Amino acid sequence: PVLVVDFGAQYAQLIARRVREAGVYSELVPHSMPADEILAKDPKAIILSGGPASVFEPGAPSIDTKVFNAGVPVLGICYGFQVMAYELGGKVDKAALGEYGKTEAVIDDAADILAGSPAEQTTWMSHGVAVETAPEGFKVLAHTEGAPVAAMADEARKLYGVQWHPEVKHSPLGQALIENFLHECAGLPRDWDASSIIEDQVAKIRAQVGDAQVICGLSGGVDSAVAAALVHKAIGDQLTCVFVDHGLLRKGEAEQVKHDFVEATGIKLIAVDASEDFLTALKGVSEPERKRKIIGEKFIRTFEKAQRQVIAEAGENGKEVKFLVQGTLYPDVVESGGGDGAANIKSHHNVGGLPKDLKFELVEPLRTLFKDEVRAIGTELGLPEAMVWRQPFPGPGLGIRIIGEITKERLDLLREADAIAREELTRAGLDRDIWQCPVVLLADVHSVGVQGDERTYGSPIVLRPVSSEDAMTADWSRVPYDVLATISTRITNECRQINRVVLDCTSKPPATIEWE
Ligand code: XMP
Repeated sequence: PVLVVDFGAQYAQLIARRVREAGVYSELVPHSMPADEILAKDPKAIILSGGPASVFEPGAPSIDTKVFNAGVPVLGICYGFQVMAYELGGKVDKAALGEYGKTEAVIDDAADILAGSPAEQTTWMSHGVAVETAPEGFKVLAHTEGAPVAAMADEARKLYGVQWHPEVKHSPLGQALIENFLHECAGLPRDWDASSIIEDQVAKIRAQVGDAQVICGLSGGVDSAVAAALVHKAIGDQLTCVFVDHGLLRKGEAEQVKHDFVEATGIKLIAVDASEDFLTALKGVSEPERKRKIIGEKFIRTFEKAQRQVIAEAGENGKEVKFLVQGTLYPDVVESGGGDGAANIKSHHNVGGLPKDLKFELVEPLRTLFKDEVRAIGTELGLPEAMVWRQPFPGPGLGIRIIGEITKERLDLLREADAIAREELTRAGLDRDIWQCPVVLLADVHSVGVQGDERTYGSPIVLRPVSSEDAMTADWSRVPYDVLATISTRITNECRQINRVVLDCTSKPPATIEWE
């Protein structure tokens, strides 16, 4: 693989994604990993990420120079670039001029990582420390006002560095730089795409599972659907899927799982309609964390019951149900593997998740993949478009989008309003710009309205369209006014109990994406 050494950057995952977009497999490793261990992974190239430290401060993270002398091509980005320059004897100091945001870089030598670059390019920078002189053996490829050395290369040792962030979209020629490094400087082929991933995973799943029976919980979301389809491709009818309908899905989603998905894949499915059960358990509850807890627990119990059924049926074949499929993605693996652990802002019971005391071995075919790769595989496997491109949707579903008690009437009302918003956003071609758009019913709020000459006292609907890379931070989407107007008119016309539609124009932080 190409290894991305994470120096604590917010962008390390983004770098790994960009490498994969260039058709090359990449993995993240922490900077604390010893150089020998890094080299033992037989990396085809190494990228050093940015990070918040200053190289000359005591205790600043660094990397053993072994890594630079191993004959492996290395690209340092921002802090990683400074580490490379510093460790190899260049001069790194506090910058006379810090550069944050859009910065014009002057290209002195359009070669190596900058091959094909125009004489100037717009880049995105964030640095208060600069490389003043490059180490011996390096030539300077670019400079900016605040960075005498903004890019450098040592062709003989295949070492490259750049001060700006080529991985962010605000550096328009950034992807070209990354591709130059991978394909031209390091000579790596493009061999990472949906069909090679599928082939690879199918072989791995077969090897892991043998002829045992496998069970998989479907949530309606893209991850579990793609994981199931992949496993089904590998082992066919040894797989049984369980779908627990908790009654908190959006309009048409249960049908999507029960019919469209089954039709597209031919998967064996046990569908349990537990919506009455969930409603009863949630009666009178309006506190968000209690809702989550009840939904999470109820889900596990319902799933276990269905699972016993699968085991009983498989038992007749004399075969074991030994494995459970999980749609775990790479960012989950990376995040739970390291870091200080983010504060627990909300208890994210991912409904469809794994009951803790299950005695199964896990099959996690998406464990090395990013969301965009999962979508590409889903498309390649022929899953319904609406499923592959479904927005992230919380496990507790509409349960946490009704502010107040959850009732059947409120759910139906919200389902209608949500369906209208989704329809209009799709019609406007905004699906892929918007990360997700929670539609929230403020069930206990009443405001005065006038509908058909009558004074009404209805509830408001909140539209919460956001753009985001990873849901950790988000900005509210600037949906065109006419699209908002259509959504508002349709919701108030078609959902009589709603007399007001409002737009949530708060970023995250300070707000969260969901309202509960
Ligand atoms: P917040 O509201 O914390 O949401 O900004 C971040 C992302 O997480 C989703 N979310 C959940 N997902 N169970 C889930 O599986 C939950 O309880 C839950 N709460 C929020 C939310 O939709 C967004 O994508």
